[in-house]
Amino acid sequence: MVGKTSHLKHCNYPDIRSELDMTIQPDNLTFYITALAAVLASIGLFFFLVTRISLIYQTSMVKSDPDTAHIYWIYKSPLFIRLADRMFVVSSILLGQYSKLVDCVVKRLNPSLKGKRILQISCAFGNVSEKIAESCAKQDASEFVLTDIMQSELDNAERKLKRFGKLCTYLKQDATNLEFEDQSFDYVVVFFLPHELPSDKKDKLIVEANRVLKPGGKVVFGEFHKPRLKILEILGRIYFYIFEPYATEMWDTFDIGQAIEENTGVPYKIQKDTFLFSNFQILTAKRLA
Ligand SMILES: C[S@@+](CC[C@H](N)C(=O)[O-])C[C@H]1O[C@@H](n2cnc3c(N)ncnc32)[C@H](O)[C@@H]1O
Repeated sequence: MVGKTSHLKHCNYPDIRSELDMTIQPDNLTFYITALAAVLASIGLFFFLVTRISLIYQTSMVKSDPDTAHIYWIYKSPLFIRLADRMFVVSSILLGQYSKLVDCVVKRLNPSLKGKRILQISCAFGNVSEKIAESCAKQDASEFVLTDIMQSELDNAERKLKRFGKLCTYLKQDATNLEFEDQSFDYVVVFFLPHELPSDKKDKLIVEANRVLKPGGKVVFGEFHKPRLKILEILGRIYFYIFEPYATEMWDTFDIGQAIEENTGVPYKIQKDTFLFSNFQILTAKRLA
């Protein structure tokens, strides 16, 4: 842009030049910053209203089942699921890191998925399940099983993964009490579930993920992680206070690697990738025996 502008200074196209010059005026910069702030504020307001309304609805109109009382209505109602399951929503919540996190999950499902059974414990918004399914299809995996405690989430996932046909299976199961045989999966993926669970359920999830995993297999977690930047920590705590009441445990009392060690009695090799000043983590645990 700078090169083009200086070249135009020597020719007779004043209209075009003044148009190009406009792109670097401070007024324009203010406009773009204001527009960006407005877009971010609208996304925040959208999400705030949807979650608040869903909470009010849940507490006033729905008799809560103790197994699902911790789950936002947003993950229960087909309408809210449709509204919120949008890439711009998940990308905003995960501060622009969503694609990197998903890419890392898929990369950690190695060496090969050929003939392997892969389990995703709990569905998630965005395209993480699609990316895993694509990888399974490309590498000729034998089965990709998706579970969730909410049928509405499974229906949403099935709608998104229709094109993978029989490769994918959808089963309604509680992550803290899975119905699979011991050691029946080669890979297990848990994407942003632990922070949603009360602390006793967090431990039960780890026990179950270990139980269904074959020796030599891997469990891959995507989750929040305590950030190195103080400002991110402060903003994160405010966000968690409003939206995710069990999430600060991920920073203060619950470490996934330590929980695996304490709850399984099985040796694991842990690899941790962190993102955005350590605000997010992909933790890969390889079961050694
Ligand atoms: C995975 S978390 C949120 C995902 C993340 N915020 C995202 O969209 O990427 C929400 C999902 O966990 C499911 N869930 C919550 N508790 C569960 C449990 N005990 N067992 C299985 N699924 C559960 C909810 O039904 C919902 O589909």
